[in-house]
Amino acid sequence: MQRQRSVASVTPENGLIAVGRIEDFPLGSVRRIDRRGAPPLALFHIDAGVFATEDTCTHGIASLSEGSLDGEVIECPFHGGAFNVRTGCAEAEPCAVPLRTFEVILRDGTIYVGAARPAVQGGA
Ligand code: FES
Repeated sequence: MQRQRSVASVTPENGLIAVGRIEDFPLGSVRRIDRRGAPPLALFHIDAGVFATEDTCTHGIASLSEGSLDGEVIECPFHGGAFNVRTGCAEAEPCAVPLRTFEVILRDGTIYVGAARPAVQGGA
């Protein structure tokens, strides 16, 4: 798994922020996206596509982009809790509160992150 970190630097366009190029974000990669004035995001490239969640674990202050990605599940580096990166649902205790997930759009090779999606209920 490749770990990367980047800053969303493009001016928002229709609420979308550009977070990088798909060719720089290979399958199996996880990237932390730091945003000015907003909590960081975690970006995941899995078989099903590119997905974004909030980066901070709902159990503590761990950065999920420093966790271990297995398929579509990210394991938190602190206490072994886990989340589905597509749905945000907690997959393993001690995590119980789902992550917020965000719209991801791929346009002309650029990855954009948009608005938060409605929360999905579910937990470990
Ligand atoms: S901080 Fe993530 S499982 Fe505890």
